[in-house]
Amino acid sequence: MKNIVIAVDGPAGAGKSTISKIVAERLNIEYIDTGAMYRAITLKIIRKGIGLEDIDSIKKLLNETHIDFINGRIYLDEEDVSEDIRKIEVSSKVSDVAAMPFVRGKLVELQRNMASLKSVIMDGRDIGTNVLKDANIKIFLTASVDERAKRRYKEMIEKGNDVTFEDICRDIENRDRIDSTREVNPLKKADDAVEIDTTSKSIDDVVNEIISIVKKVG
Ligand code: C5P
Repeated sequence: MKNIVIAVDGPAGAGKSTISKIVAERLNIEYIDTGAMYRAITLKIIRKGIGLEDIDSIKKLLNETHIDFINGRIYLDEEDVSEDIRKIEVSSKVSDVAAMPFVRGKLVELQRNMASLKSVIMDGRDIGTNVLKDANIKIFLTASVDERAKRRYKEMIEKGNDVTFEDICRDIENRDRIDSTREVNPLKKADDAVEIDTTSKSIDDVVNEIISIVKKVG
């Protein structure tokens, strides 16, 4: 059977990771969360106390960093950082880090390697437009800002984070702005992507919609 490659893009809180994980399980393929990779680099920069203007130190840090996914968890230099990367301190800086061309260059290369030779569903901001331009299936998930902020807020509170709804709205709007206006590979729907607005749809509905697209193509 030929490999299936599914690219899922969209703004923060549109449901990309929740939906991609379920689709991966249903199709028995690998899920790769590229946002987690940008978050892991950002976490390391914060922990080391490096300022975002200190380009030389960030370049050096990139060369000394190892990122891996094992059983759905993300490892930064062999440490499981799956929870730490979700903190608001990381969210508030990640889009500035992800706008740096040399950071993208390094992570995109890693992402392409991870996706070669196997069937994957990969989510992010530039997967259909850049990382996996030849993907068989491209999905662009959207939802209203209010709905996305509500989902993210619920998720953060359930995980015990001390955040307000306003913090989350500000974070989402700020990241949307930086992600869609940066010079290198901004967040944008690929011309050949299918757009799904998830605002008033259940997770199951969206998963089923994607699976039926996969079945049509495959
Ligand atoms: O997907 P998630 O919201 O966790 O991504 C965190 C951030 O990483 C995004 O807001 C964006 O700045 C960056 N990102 C990116 N390109 C990707 C995936 C994520 O620039 N492919």
